[in-house]
Amino acid sequence: MEFDFEKLDEQTRYRLLTNFIGPRPIALVSTRSAAGHNNAAPMSFFNVFSHEPAIIALGIQPRMDGREKDTMANIRRTGEFVVNMVDMALAEAMLVCGLGFETEVDEMEKSGLQPVACNKIDAAFAAQSPCAFECRVDHLIEYPRRVIVLGEVVHMHVHRHCLDDEGRYVEPQNYQPIARLHADNYISSDRQFELKAPAIHNFMPAD
Ligand SMILES: Cc1cc2nc3c(=O)[nH]c(=O)nc-3n(C[C@H](O)[C@H](O)[C@H](O)COP(=O)(O)O)c2cc1C
Repeated sequence: MEFDFEKLDEQTRYRLLTNFIGPRPIALVSTRSAAGHNNAAPMSFFNVFSHEPAIIALGIQPRMDGREKDTMANIRRTGEFVVNMVDMALAEAMLVCGLGFETEVDEMEKSGLQPVACNKIDAAFAAQSPCAFECRVDHLIEYPRRVIVLGEVVHMHVHRHCLDDEGRYVEPQNYQPIARLHADNYISSDRQFELKAPAIHNFMPAD
């Protein structure tokens, strides 16, 4: 089948993109509300796009009724947010945070996430998250039906056992984030395998 994306309606585009571009890692984004409490929401329109500077991107769409999501409003107001990575142990809390609570609800409290004050920004990360990235807004790219948030990572928290003995590389037995596939389908990273590039003379090694 072929699909002309320039002619498709919004829902069909959303369905095809999210069904086929995956698995997408999940950022459980925590922010500070105007009233001062913690807000948290999962975002799977998320990835890393640069290391120099250290830039991650989120894609945040409005609520069904057209109002801006709390995460987006908080990011606009404060210019700061945290990406908490999600593993199986955090899956249920992540889903609770994804429910459409009203602005005054503290989703970290609702979902049993333990807030810990960040080092460089005025927000909290979840103690249970295997690793969390403190971010400051670098750019907001505005579309009528989505804002792409480019954030610069300014600090990282990571559980010690998710790193190897030297504290350099990930420990794959202990760090196993989950990712979103289509609709309510997810995948865990507990079946990792190594792929070695073939040794072909004169080729530069890949990044
Ligand atoms: C796994 C998962 C991924 C999601 N990804 C996104 C996303 O990338 N962008 C978005 O706008 N909403 C996404 N959502 C929906 C928001 O998390 C949801 O609308 C949430 O209630 C927003 O909360 P807030 O108003 O506190 O920001 C996702 C939900 C789930 C469960």
